[in-house]
Amino acid sequence: MLELKNITKLYHKGSVVFTALDNISLNVDKGDYLLVTGPSGAGKSTLLYVAGGMIHPDSGEMKYQGKNIYGLNNKAKNDYRRKHAGFVFQQFHLMPFLTVEENIKMACYEKSQHDYIDSYLEKCLLAPLRNKLPSELSVGEKQRTAFVRAIITRPGLLLADEPTGNLDPANSEILMSLIGDFHREGGTILLVSHNPVASGYARRQIVLNEGKIVSED
Ligand SMILES: Nc1ncnc2c1ncn2[C@@H]1O[C@H](COP(=O)(O)OP(=O)(O)OP(=O)(O)O)[C@@H](O)[C@H]1O
Ligand SMILES: [Mg+2]
Repeated sequence: MLELKNITKLYHKGSVVFTALDNISLNVDKGDYLLVTGPSGAGKSTLLYVAGGMIHPDSGEMKYQGKNIYGLNNKAKNDYRRKHAGFVFQQFHLMPFLTVEENIKMACYEKSQHDYIDSYLEKCLLAPLRNKLPSELSVGEKQRTAFVRAIITRPGLLLADEPTGNLDPANSEILMSLIGDFHREGGTILLVSHNPVASGYARRQIVLNEGKIVSED
């Protein structure tokens, strides 16, 4: 479903060049649940952003369903981000002046997707909060809103970067269980997480260090 081949990503800081991803190759099959771990600075977020069509690698190729994503024009690349790759960030990234429901609606690109909102709000314990602003929510509620926004369009791929990093154990458990449901219903997941609960859900794990995959199982 997702094939990364010899992906290298460099960051330039003044005259210093830093290799964040060093010739990484990775295949993610439909229905996979892949956990990505590794020390701080290993390149985990960079890998996820590349997979999400957000960071152009310096070299290598990434294919989603056979299409070379970074070879596409901007409109088609946007389409990939919007329709195929749902993203959840550690810091939520909700729009502050939009309500829970409006934040979720923003992700929808077809009217029919609005039909799922009620049931997801219900399932994610957000129904009574649909008209609240993010500033009026607890951190767990914010992250569940961000989760619904990521999956409301039923993307093939869910990319989550330390989604429980700001959550307490009870809220982490709820979120991991919702992500687990998305997987059980056929979703494919790439999750960056240090949370021990995550390894119970994942099917596969890779460890990154200094931009390289140092172990896979
Ligand atoms: N925009 C940037 N400009 C320069 N260097 C960057 C940039 N973004 C990341 N880096 C560097 O690239 C390396 C990999 O960063 P990345 O955010 O992918 O690591 P990470 O594994 O997600 O770390 P963490 O666990 O702390 O989130 C780090 O050393 C970081 O300092
Ligand atoms: Mg990171």
